[in-house]
Amino acid sequence: MEHILEVKDLQTSFLTSSGEVKAVRGVSFFVNKGESVGIVGESGSGKSVTSLSVMQLLVGTGKIIGGSVKLNGRELVGLSPKEMRSIRGKEVAMIFQDPMTSLNPLIPVGEQVGEMLWSHDKSLSKAQREERVIDLFRMVRIPEPETRLKSFPHEFSGGMRQRVMIAMALACKPDLLIADEPTTALDVSIQDQILKLMRSIQKEMGMSIMFITHDLGVVAELCSRVLVMYGGLIMEEANIYDVFENPLHPYTMGLIASIPDINQDKSKKLQPIIGSPPDMVHPPEGCPFAPRCPYACRICLHQLPPVFSAGEGHKSRCWLLAGDAPSSGNPLKGRKGAKE
Ligand SMILES: Nc1ncnc2c1ncn2[C@@H]1O[C@H](COP(=O)(O)OP(=O)(O)OP(=O)(O)O)[C@@H](O)[C@H]1O
Ligand SMILES: [Mg+2]
Repeated sequence: MEHILEVKDLQTSFLTSSGEVKAVRGVSFFVNKGESVGIVGESGSGKSVTSLSVMQLLVGTGKIIGGSVKLNGRELVGLSPKEMRSIRGKEVAMIFQDPMTSLNPLIPVGEQVGEMLWSHDKSLSKAQREERVIDLFRMVRIPEPETRLKSFPHEFSGGMRQRVMIAMALACKPDLLIADEPTTALDVSIQDQILKLMRSIQKEMGMSIMFITHDLGVVAELCSRVLVMYGGLIMEEANIYDVFENPLHPYTMGLIASIPDINQDKSKKLQPIIGSPPDMVHPPEGCPFAPRCPYACRICLHQLPPVFSAGEGHKSRCWLLAGDAPSSGNPLKGRKGAKE
């Protein structure tokens, strides 16, 4: 399989007045050509910082302090802003949570999408650009595209604005589309429509998608593989079937237990994961999830678990997979992993 994106040991920090926020602490993963990968995890786990690092769009005091990000085989860390601009849009594009902040309120939406086309192909005439924008609006199912392209962002509903953003992201046919919680700001019924749209677009265009969400249920609908993040680390990586049928990390088990749709049996109450996320200025020396983990042992509190490989493409950062892990009370039922 060809890797479109290959991230190795990525570390990203923010240098704040209260210290270095270690937002991403050594993350490695890949995205295959045409594949749709989900990144899930609670608020603050480092999902957005990971994607902004890939895009080289960190602002303020954010900085990649280690590791590598290769897109189509080319190292992105250290590229100049100009080189990155020629890659963004064309090879990788991103959709954000709140479309209003990414659209210019003073420019008609069609022109904004047209500008994106023009920035990568200066030979396009105004008429050609307009034609392409109409095609794109059709693709994202914006009704009456010929008239709607003259509208301003505020004249659209939230769901329609997100469609404009998707059109803009797709304008230059990127190899990889990163969608960072593209539906969380929308009503539930609209969320569903946007997810359906993204699924059909992926089928039509065959691009790779990195879909970021805190909702494992959404990932199940859209992705073939999942990365579960916590405390700036990937805690588990598995295909979508294994993540639900055979989770190998207590944090993943906790996320599954808190999905409403899966727990439709009303007598079984939803179980939120008790406790709060770690302090990223002083992350715990052991497993970041250990203080909230019902199965934590002594070692979990003072030594960061390595990545254990337990089956095809299935990895977990959990001491329960170690060869000498206790078997009594072990929810992984004696599953063993090989240290990476
Ligand atoms: N500009 C910033 N300055 C300082 N710290 C930041 C900044 N942006 C993010 N962080 C910190 O980095 C960590 C990871 O944040 P990130 O935004 O990646 O989380 P997330 O998983 O995307 O969460 P959410 O689901 O809420 O979007 C958090 O501890 C956050 O407080
Ligand atoms: Mg985020």
